[in-house]
Amino acid sequence: MRGIGCIGLVCLLAGALPALAATPADPSGGADLKSLGSTQPAKVQDGQYTDKNGDPTYHVTDGGKKVDWYTMSGYLRYNANCIVCHGPDGMGSTYAPSLVDALKGMDYAHFAGIIVGGKKDVNASQELVMPAFGDNRNVMCYMPGIYTYLRARAEGAVGRNRPPEHEPKPAAFTKAEDECMK
Ligand code: HEC
Repeated sequence: MRGIGCIGLVCLLAGALPALAATPADPSGGADLKSLGSTQPAKVQDGQYTDKNGDPTYHVTDGGKKVDWYTMSGYLRYNANCIVCHGPDGMGSTYAPSLVDALKGMDYAHFAGIIVGGKKDVNASQELVMPAFGDNRNVMCYMPGIYTYLRARAEGAVGRNRPPEHEPKPAAFTKAEDECMK
């Protein structure tokens, strides 16, 4: 994918690749972590944590104060692109549903489908429209992080407001970001 740049689904695939590439035998630093429950990290590679299904997940330490980089990035991207409808900290608004509730048990593929294609509930009494973000790189290039942040909110692992501390921004994140945004 290098050199082609990416739009829409190509970015989506680029986002999913680190998760797919992470195997315990990977010489580039993939590591097996103890897996306890569905949102527990099973692996970490280049600062991205994934659960046993390969879905992005959060890593919160220091009694809830410190988050992994993807959760931090997701918080920032959520505030740039989603807060206007879904409210501060994913809490929902009169127009759009709470994502703290919606993300409970929602896997990455389902989430990605909604973000790429949008969602509509239009009838005689209401017109609820979730826009499709498939052509918006500011969302597509950061989707694993947005999912990770909202997943952490849904599970109560991070509270409201900006996480006070975060793990360093991985070089692999910067590289993927540059490839995706160009
Ligand atoms: C213009 C307003 C608007 C923006 C911006 C927006 N959404 Fe939505 N979103 C909605 C509405 C309205 C719905 C409910 C649609 C329905 O009921 O079919 C929704 C639904 C959703 C759902 C499905 C919830 C469920 O219960 O199944 C997810 C997930 C979601 N949005 C995530 C996001 C994310 C992540 C962003 C930012 C990248 C975002 N939305 C930006 C309005 C918005």
